[in-house]
Amino acid sequence: MIPADDRPRMLLVGGGGGLVGRAILREFAPTHRIRSVHRHPVAEETRLGVEWVRADVGGVRSWADLLEGCQLVVNLAWYRSGSARRFRPLADGLLRLTEEVAASPGVHRFVHLSVPDAPSHLEGELPYLYYKRRVDRAIEGTAAPYLILRPTMLFGRSDRLLTVMMRTMKRFGRFPMFGDGEYHVSPLASQDLAAIVRWELGGTPRRSLVLGGPERWRYRDLTDRMWSALGRPPRYWQLSPAGSRRIASLLEHLGSTLIYEYEVEWLLSDRLGPPPYEGLPRPLVRVAPFLDETAAQLQFRSDGSHHSGSPPKGS
Ligand SMILES: NC(=O)c1ccc[n+]([C@@H]2O[C@H](COP(=O)([O-])OP(=O)(O)OC[C@H]3O[C@@H](n4cnc5c(N)ncnc54)[C@H](OP(=O)(O)O)[C@@H]3O)[C@@H](O)[C@H]2O)c1
Repeated sequence: MIPADDRPRMLLVGGGGGLVGRAILREFAPTHRIRSVHRHPVAEETRLGVEWVRADVGGVRSWADLLEGCQLVVNLAWYRSGSARRFRPLADGLLRLTEEVAASPGVHRFVHLSVPDAPSHLEGELPYLYYKRRVDRAIEGTAAPYLILRPTMLFGRSDRLLTVMMRTMKRFGRFPMFGDGEYHVSPLASQDLAAIVRWELGGTPRRSLVLGGPERWRYRDLTDRMWSALGRPPRYWQLSPAGSRRIASLLEHLGSTLIYEYEVEWLLSDRLGPPPYEGLPRPLVRVAPFLDETAAQLQFRSDGSHHSGSPPKGS
């Protein structure tokens, strides 16, 4: 590892407090000094000597000081749900960042995380997507050397999708099956996404890529595989597509973050199984070992023991 003070390059990360932020941190900390803008402290950032700037990306009026000395900018900040009142200020902050990056000759690449296509009415009406696309289009319309990455469902330690699904299965002994489960997902590891960011820095600028993981799963097969990792036979509450949306909407209104109605609709639309990213010089991480490891961790937490006698490694 290069000694911290000799790392020549500076990376500015917006919204690095979550799943992708952790992976970007691990990928880039050995080679970059990192300035990270988000609202809540993250222990690993402190440990690695990251310059944390406590700020809401939507509230940053001028990015000039934060961009000072940066060659690489990565934006991850986004909310998982909310109204236009919540998304508009964040999008405005990102539009200001986009303009200032385009006017900063020192920035060699502006990487922005977006999402795959969704059903058209969600694209047009859901604040989550409406404002995301506004930012995507603004970036594509500038002179900035951008890279827009649009991964499908991501997985990694303590993620809020697969890990939460398995925890729910373990806790309730049943899981909702949305519709017939015949639609597809191709989960991508957050560590692979971070490796793709680094790899693509050497590629053509001004690109937008939809990213899938190594395997395209039928959704029902993936949930069956989760049950198998937990050592239990699959048990589902079978829901019609309309019933699935109603249940998700009800949970949402009760304040649950388990699943949102738009996520169910997106799943059912069969748009979340894009082909694998094939650019990395090594294979992409498969999801099955991650499911086994997550099951072992859940088991370890619930009874304090583990079949191998020690806690499993993180992903
Ligand atoms: N996870 C997935 O499956 C997935 C799939 C496709 C695309 N993406 C995209 O990838 C990006 C990162 O996702 P993620 O899974 O890492 O999300 P995450 O775990 O929810 O983390 C996002 C981070 O952004 C920060 N943030 C949110 N709003 C902010 C604001 N207004 N100002 C500053 N920081 C803010 C939060 O940190 P603080 O609370 O500290 O501010 C949060 O930790 C997002 O743009 C998401 O849309 C994710």
